[in-house]
Amino acid sequence: MAAKWLDSAVFYEIYPQSFQDTNADGIGDFQGIMKRLDYIKELGCNAIWINPCFASPFGDAGYDVSDYYTVAPRYGTNEDLKELFAQAHQREMHVLLDLVPGHTSVEHPWFKESMKPEKNVYTDRYIWTDSVWEAPEGAQSLRGISDRDGSCMVNFFSHQPALNYGFYERNRPWQQAPEDEGPQASLEEMKNVMRFWFSMGCDGFRVDMAGAMVKNDPESKGTIALWQNVRAFLDREFPDKVLVSEWGEPDKSLQGGFHMDFLLHFGPSHYNDLFRCEEPFFSSRGKGDVKAFVEKYLDNYRKSERKGLICIPSGNHDMDRLARSLQGDELKIAFAFLLSMPGAPFIYYGDEIGMRYVEGIHSVEGGYNRTGSRSPMQWDHTANAGFSSASPEKLYVKMDPMEDRPCAEDQLAEPASLYHEVQKLIRLRGAHTALGNKADIEFVYVEENKYPLAYVRSSEDETVLVIVNPSKEACRISTANTKVDPAKAKAFYQLGDSVSYDEKTGEWVVPGGSVHFIA
Ligand code: NOJ
Ligand code: CA
Repeated sequence: MAAKWLDSAVFYEIYPQSFQDTNADGIGDFQGIMKRLDYIKELGCNAIWINPCFASPFGDAGYDVSDYYTVAPRYGTNEDLKELFAQAHQREMHVLLDLVPGHTSVEHPWFKESMKPEKNVYTDRYIWTDSVWEAPEGAQSLRGISDRDGSCMVNFFSHQPALNYGFYERNRPWQQAPEDEGPQASLEEMKNVMRFWFSMGCDGFRVDMAGAMVKNDPESKGTIALWQNVRAFLDREFPDKVLVSEWGEPDKSLQGGFHMDFLLHFGPSHYNDLFRCEEPFFSSRGKGDVKAFVEKYLDNYRKSERKGLICIPSGNHDMDRLARSLQGDELKIAFAFLLSMPGAPFIYYGDEIGMRYVEGIHSVEGGYNRTGSRSPMQWDHTANAGFSSASPEKLYVKMDPMEDRPCAEDQLAEPASLYHEVQKLIRLRGAHTALGNKADIEFVYVEENKYPLAYVRSSEDETVLVIVNPSKEACRISTANTKVDPAKAKAFYQLGDSVSYDEKTGEWVVPGGSVHFIA
C-alpha cells in the first residue's frame, strides 16, 4: 500500500528560518510559508518538506528537539501549522515535516529525567553505559554531566544525546536489544509523535539520520526491521501518509519500508560526481564522469525491486548550493536531468532561481560551512530582498550581499530565466507519463569520462529518449539502441541547439550544452 499522491509529487524543501518573515523578527515563519504557497504551486511543486520546526534551543538549527509536540514559538503556534496544512491541502499540495527520531536536545525533559540516578520512565530512553569511566566504543559521549553514573552516547553534535533503539550486536551488559522495553518505548513514543502531527493534517515526514537508529548494526538489519515495524503501523493506521529517509542507501531504506529515500552528498551514491566535486559531470568543462553514479543507481534500482522511490535532490540545507559549482546553462541542464529522472524530485528553496552559496559568513545555529546554503530567500528588490522588514543585522542569516544576486521577481518577468526552465520541465514531467516518478528507466549511453548521458524513460503508453550533454563540446552516439526511430521521432523539449541524426553513420549528433527529450 502506498499513497497515490506520491506518483506525481514534486517537492520543494523549505528551510523555515530563511524563507519568509512576516513579523519583522528576522526569522521566517509559518505565516510566511502560507503567503508563498502560491509561488511554490505556480513553480509546479505540489508538495513541501519543512525542516524541523519544533521547540528547540537551536544548537543545530532545530535538529535538537526539546519538545516533539509543540512548534518553536518563533515560527508560530501549533494552530498556525495546522492552518498551513489546511491551506496547502486547499491547493492540492502535501506537507512533510522533519522527524528527528535518533536524538534530542540535552534540554529535552526526557533527557533531564534520564540523567537522574533514580530509576524512572526515561532511564532507558537514551543510551547510557553503566559507569562514567566507560565510554561507548566508537562513538562520542557525554560524561560527567549527571549524578547518574554512566556516559551517554551522542548521535551528532555533543548536545544531541542518542535515543535508545537498542543494539543489533551486543557485547556489553548495558547494551539493550531492540526488543527490550527501553528501545520499544522510544519507538512507540515516535509513533505517538507521528500520530499527533498526522491528526493535525501533516502528510508525512522526512526522517533524519534514518539509517543510524539501531547501533552496532553493521548490515543495518536491526534498523531495517525497526522501520518495517513503523511501515506496518502506517499501513494499518495511516495508509496515505509517507516517509522519506535521510539514508542515501535505497537498497536498505526501501526494504525497510520507506516510501522514498534520497541520495546525499555523503555515502555510496556518487551523487557528488554529478554536481559537487572538482570536475562535476554537469560542468561545461566536460571533464566529469557519470559512470560510477549510474552503476550505483542501477544497482540500487534493482536491489530495491522498485519498492519505493529513489529521489535525487537539487540540494539541501547540508550541502553547498548547486550554484556554487554550476552556473548559467549548466544549472538548466542539471535541472533537465533532475526533472526527467525517476523518483520524486526535491528542489531546495532558491535553487530554482540559482541562489548562490554565500561565502565567508559566520556559522549560525550549528550551521558552520552549511550556513552559506541557508541564506534568506531572495524574492524581490525591496528591503532584504523581500524576505523580512527587520533591520539587516537582525536577519537570521545574512543575505547574499552580491549586487547581481538573483531574485524571484526578476526571474518571473524573464521568460528565459532558470525559474521558467524549471517550471517548464515540471509541467512536461506532469504531461508525459513516461517522465513520471514511477515510470521505468533504462540507460542507453553511459561511458566512463565521456559525454553525453542518454536514457530512455517509459510507461505503458509512451517511450521518451533523454539525451543530456552538459559539455561544451558536441558529441555523437549511435542510434542503434536508443529505442526511438530517428527518422520519425521529434524532440518535444530542447535546451540549446537542435539534435540531428546522421543517416550515414547512424548517429545522433548532440550539440555542446544541450538536452533533448525525444519521442
Ligand atoms: C542531518 C540533518 O540534515 C542535519 O542538518 C543535522 O545537523 C543532522 N542530521 C543531525 O540531526
Ligand atoms: Ca518571523
